Amino acid sequence: MTTILITGASSGLGAEMARQFAARGHDLALAARRTDRLAALRDEIVTAHPDRRVETRAMDVTDEDSVFAAVDGFRADFGTLDRVVINAGIGKGAPLGTGRQQANRETAMTNFVGALTQAEAAMAVFRAQGAGHLVMISSMSAMRGLPRSMTTYAATKAGVAHLAEGLRNELHGTPITVSVIYPGWIESEMNAGSRVPMMVSTEKGVASIVHAIEKMKPSAHVPPLPWAPLSVVMRHAPLPLFRRLL
Ligand SMILES: NC(=O)c1ccc[n+]([C@@H]2O[C@H](COP(=O)([O-])OP(=O)(O)OC[C@H]3O[C@@H](n4cnc5c(N)ncnc54)[C@H](OP(=O)(O)O)[C@@H]3O)[C@@H](O)[C@H]2O)c1
Repeated sequence: MTTILITGASSGLGAEMARQFAARGHDLALAARRTDRLAALRDEIVTAHPDRRVETRAMDVTDEDSVFAAVDGFRADFGTLDRVVINAGIGKGAPLGTGRQQANRETAMTNFVGALTQAEAAMAVFRAQGAGHLVMISSMSAMRGLPRSMTTYAATKAGVAHLAEGLRNELHGTPITVSVIYPGWIESEMNAGSRVPMMVSTEKGVASIVHAIEKMKPSAHVPPLPWAPLSVVMRHAPLPLFRRLL
């Protein structure tokens, strides 16, 4: 049994990760801005698994003080944080130069700067403990620069993956482990109503994520089919061919 902090736990992948980690016997620290959703999720989980401990705290990842206060508060609650899953994110975006820079800026501040802040707070705890498992949720969008409304989102997710790799490079051989997860399309609030190919249910997609995290894989494309082989195509296809795949 370990204690797992999940950010962005009020909906989608984060909420389902909480359910599946609880079913595997882990205690949970759940963070997001919508604390009413977190409270409802905590009630659901402790009803299903009365032996589990679930704590919730408000966190806005664009507010540095709120991130450090929540992470430090959870550490005080539990004494130790064994794993932190940096999952909070948004999917806004617009083609650059079309006057909608606010959407791109918000995405950059939440997905990249917010992930950096969360990693700072989590790593401070792990360095003090001398151990921990940092998990960063990137995206298959990180494989390549993407056009139009996806340009900024893809760049933030590539940045997240590089943060994870840099830390892994630094911490190799230490008791601090770093994983980066590249999800393909998984049903959630972020993509509600969008019709995209190869989308899987929240439960199925998150089962793949949880499996990869529990195995402490350095990196994983999930679900592995079709996304592991597609990652090779996405990374190496010549741009004109790649453009036709989108
Ligand atoms: N679903 C997919 O197909 C897919 C694919 C690849 C990667 N991902 C990544 O998976 C992660 C989870 O996304 P999802 O699909 O589960 O979407 P979602 O259902 O919209 O969930 C996003 C979560 O992030 C939280 N969040 C957003 N902005 C925040 C902020 N400023 N401060 C704190 N929390 C914030 C939201 O909580 P509050 O609004 O309550 O704060 C919510 O819990 C994201 O990083 C996303 O990029 C998703």
